[in-house]
Order: sequence, then C-alpha cells, then structure tokens
Amino acid sequence: MKFSALLLATIANGFPLRNPLEQSILDLHLEGSDFLLDLEEHLSHDSIKELPNPRTLLKAKYDLLPEVDTDALQALINEKGLKDRAEKLFSIAEQSIPEYGHPTRVIKSSGHWGTIQYIATELRKLGGYYTVKTQKFKALDSKVNSYSLLIDGVQPKSVKPLSLTPPTKDTKPVHGNLVLAKNFGCSLEDYPANLTAGNIVLVPRGECSFGDKSANSGIAGAVGVIIYDKDDLHGTLGEPTGKEVAAVSIVEAEAKPFVEKLTKDPSYKFETTLYVDSYVKYVPTLNVVAETVFGDHDNVVALGAHSDSVTEGPGINDDGSGSISLLEVAKYLAKFKVNNAVRFAWWAAEEEGLLGSTFYADSLTPEENSKVRLFMDYDMMASPNYEYQVYEANNKDHPNGSGDLKDLYVDWYKSKGLNYTFVPFDGRSDYVGFIDNGIPAGGIATGAEGIKTKEGVEKFGGVAGEQFDQCYHELCDDLSNPDYEAWVINTQLIAHSVAVFAKSFDGFPERDLTKINSINKGFQYRGSFAVY
Ligand SMILES: *[C@@H]1O[C@H](CO)[C@@H](O)[C@H](O)[C@H]1NC(C)=O
Ligand SMILES: *[C@@H]1O[C@H](CO)[C@@H](O)[C@H](O)[C@H]1NC(C)=O
Ligand SMILES: *[C@@H]1O[C@H](CO)[C@@H](O)[C@H](O)[C@H]1NC(C)=O
Ligand SMILES: [Zn+2]
Repeated sequence: MKFSALLLATIANGFPLRNPLEQSILDLHLEGSDFLLDLEEHLSHDSIKELPNPRTLLKAKYDLLPEVDTDALQALINEKGLKDRAEKLFSIAEQSIPEYGHPTRVIKSSGHWGTIQYIATELRKLGGYYTVKTQKFKALDSKVNSYSLLIDGVQPKSVKPLSLTPPTKDTKPVHGNLVLAKNFGCSLEDYPANLTAGNIVLVPRGECSFGDKSANSGIAGAVGVIIYDKDDLHGTLGEPTGKEVAAVSIVEAEAKPFVEKLTKDPSYKFETTLYVDSYVKYVPTLNVVAETVFGDHDNVVALGAHSDSVTEGPGINDDGSGSISLLEVAKYLAKFKVNNAVRFAWWAAEEEGLLGSTFYADSLTPEENSKVRLFMDYDMMASPNYEYQVYEANNKDHPNGSGDLKDLYVDWYKSKGLNYTFVPFDGRSDYVGFIDNGIPAGGIATGAEGIKTKEGVEKFGGVAGEQFDQCYHELCDDLSNPDYEAWVINTQLIAHSVAVFAKSFDGFPERDLTKINSINKGFQYRGSFAVY
C-alpha cells in the first residue's frame, strides 16, 4: 500500500472549520499540520527512529516557564479538549471503512496508521517541547476464518478457536481418534506416544499455558488439540514457536462423557474431525514515544496508552480514551518546567497480546531500564457504566514502588471525595512488560466486560447487572460510548500522577537493579486473552 496518499487524505479531511471562536484553536492545529510522518521510511528503519523536530525549544525560553504544579496542570484539563480529539479519532477510524466495512483502528488498518500519524503530528505542534520517536516492531496479525469440530458424530455447541491458533494441516479437515492427555498435558510424558500420533488430543485447562499444551500436542504428533474448561475460554496460544497444532476449546460439560470413557479405556475410539482455517503472520507496526527535551533523563516518569483498537470497532473508549488523555496531558505539560523527564508512549498491538509495550520494555538495555523510575498504564478511562478502578499492585509481589503508585491513585480519589475499587493486577494491559523487567508499574481503569454489582452502583452510580462497557471490543465503542464525567476525572488524575513525579521522586523507592529481569512471569492474562 502507498501510505502517502492515504495520509494526505487524513490531513486534508482533518480540522474542519467550526466557528470563529475556535479560530485560535484552529490556528494551533494548523501549525505543523503540513507535516507527514513518512511511514514507509519509519517502517523500513531499524527499530527506533527520531522525528525531525520542527523547532528546538530554547533553554532560555524553557527556563521562563513556571515549575510544574499538580493543581495548575489538573486545572487545564477540560471536556472539550477530550471531545474534539474523540471526534477526530473517530473520523480517522472511518478511513478503514473501504477495507473493513466499518470504522476500526486495528493494527495495519488505515485507521491505525492514521492514529499514529495524528499522535505524531499533535506532538510536533508543541513547540519542540518533546523529542518524538517511533519504534518499529513486528506484531502478530492473525485471523480465524472458519472452524468446526465433530466428536463421535456430534458437534459440541461450545467449540471456539483459541486466538493465534494455526490452521489444521493444509487448511483441510483432519481426522483422528480422540486421545486424553494425562494430568494437564504440561509435560511431553503426558502424551502417550503410541496413542497420540495422528490423533486429536483432549486436555483440561490448567497448570501451564494453552500454548504449551498445543505445542506439546504437536511435538507428540497430534494433528489438533481440544482444551476444555468449566466455562467458555477466551484464550490465546501466545507467540508461536512453530510446534503448535490447531487448537479449539469446549466447555467441560461437553467434554465430560468423552473424558469419563477415555479415562476407563484410553484406546476407545471416538472418531474426531477438526477443521480450522486461520493464519498467523507478522506485520510491522510502530510505537510512538515522546520525551520532554528537558528534565532529568536519568529519572524518567513513564506512562502509556495503546494506539490500536480491535478489528470489530473504532475503539473510542478502548483505548482512544487513554491515548487522548495522554495527548491532552502532554499538551498542557508543555506549559511547565519539569525536574524529571516525562516519557509518553502510545503502544501498538496491545489487542494482539500487549505486543508493543512488551517489545519496548524488553528492548531497553539494562542502563536504559535503570533510568525508568516507574510506568503508569492508562487503558479505558471512560467506560459508560464506569467504576474508578485502581490496579491492585503492591511492593512485595511487584517491583518496589508499584504499591506507592497505587497509593497515589487512592489518595487522589479520596481527596476528591470519590469512591474507588481495586481490580486484579493480572496482566490485562500494557504494564506487564514493565513489571516483568523489574520496573514498578500500575494504573487505573474504568472497567471492560465485567458486570457491575449492586454494591458497585451504590459506590459509582450506573446500572447493576450490565457490563462496565457494553460496547467493549464492539462496533458501538464509538462517539456515543465514553462517559465524559469519568474521562475528565481520570485525565485530571493522570495529570496529577505526571505532575507529582515530574516534580520529584522524593520518598519513592529507588530502582532495585538486582531485579531488572523477570521478577514476575506469572500473569494469567495477556491483554484481553487468558494464557493459561
Ligand atoms: C500404548 O503403550 C502403552 C505402554 O506405553 C500400552 O500400555 C498400551 O497398551 C499401548 N496402546 C496401544 C493402543 O498400543
Ligand atoms: C461512595 O459509596 C457510598 C456507598 O459505599 C455512597 O453512600 C456514597 O454516596 C458514594 N460516594 C460518591 C461520591 O458517589
Ligand atoms: C521498598 O523501598 C523502601 C525504600 O524506598 C524500603 O524501605 C522497603 O523496605 C522496600 N520494600 C521492599 C519490599 O523491598
Ligand atoms: Zn485496551
């Protein structure tokens, strides 16, 4: 695809004239809007590439700015700023309609390239306050076109493919007998060699990752694997090793008769046919990272949101909201002097399994890593049936400082007379790569597919028995989805978190450099997917 024409169209369609009162805002917008990020160049480049800055912020001019102050920064956050950007982002998502039939900002779509372009352009309008870089990486692109399963002549109703499943051999149906793996299928010895080869494995969820079960089945010569669990699985195989075989899940109730029979008589023959038509391939995409030119670069305040959406919709709440909150805070921070450098990141391919943030955190050299004092994750700031959720991180199971960050959020909600609730710090967003690399992290959210309880309604209002976001990962995550009250509040809290640490890390734990690698690989989720 030729990116340039597409992106020219992005710019030409952007920034519509509204009324004269907005003229000054328009002027601000037009400044730098002649800029086009040359995506082809950035994608052909090795990993990190710095954008040329339209101008350099002179130290003398910077020195005239007031020192960052949390109240002053929070006071600049306003609903109109968020709303205007949401409208812009939705129009960018609509650029995907010719290819996808609906608005989306999924990686490799015009809507996602347009999002990257928009973020870079907006940052360049800030008078040279930030150094802006892109980071190229290869993301997994995958799709299941169709699938089917027949066991002993019966089609289980609950059958679902796992994310990142390879197709069945030659993308044709495969046939074999159903074979029960021993235990949880986490060891090669759990796959009886004389029974497994050429057949289809049935194995329960648990003990190890779905990817391990699929790869073990493949190594044992199976042509497919069925994983069963109490409820529907929303699982992923994770990064392919090449050993995996096609994997689907069914619920325990449907697996039970076969499990019982095969437990008694392992060589009993249930004829099974599995068909998965899918692909898993790598496509290049970009993270965008912007760091204040000034401030102490040895003590960096890092925060991030994800620039991509799922295929199904435009992702205005998930995570247009966080992406936009970061742009607004970045814009207003540029009116202040900072003591510590602030690094804003917009990760790509979060929806494919936290790929951009993980690639970034893994790619830091030990020296670069040691300078990142903490990472703050802002994903889904404006769910319509929201709760004020704080990730339940702590200083013992997570890098020291994660608990202090949690306290900062709690203290702020308390100071505003707002309720908050803790939610599991279990791997559902982009903090995973940072925690796994020893960097303290945490964040806030407003809820995804979870259901609001009666107690939740007492604390936050809204509707009991409904999802926090009924449009989570759906087409309707559009301009009518976000709740602006929650969004403004949370953007003020983001501003607070930035201002506090940009001013000082006094009292915040030093980095423990003995634990730079692999402090915790135990997250159950990889973004929206379960991994084991
Ligand atoms: C497979 O091998 C096991 C011993 O390893 C044996 O007990 C079993 O009978 C064999 N099954 C078949 C179908 O050959
Ligand atoms: C906080 O929750 C309590 C119930 O636990 C409720 O009575 C109170 O009104 C809530 N406060 C706000 C600001 O919603
Ligand atoms: C975290 O760091 C603080 C000092 O900043 C220290 O007092 C505390 O013991 C550390 N906690 C852990 C669990 O290492
Ligand atoms: Zn998200």
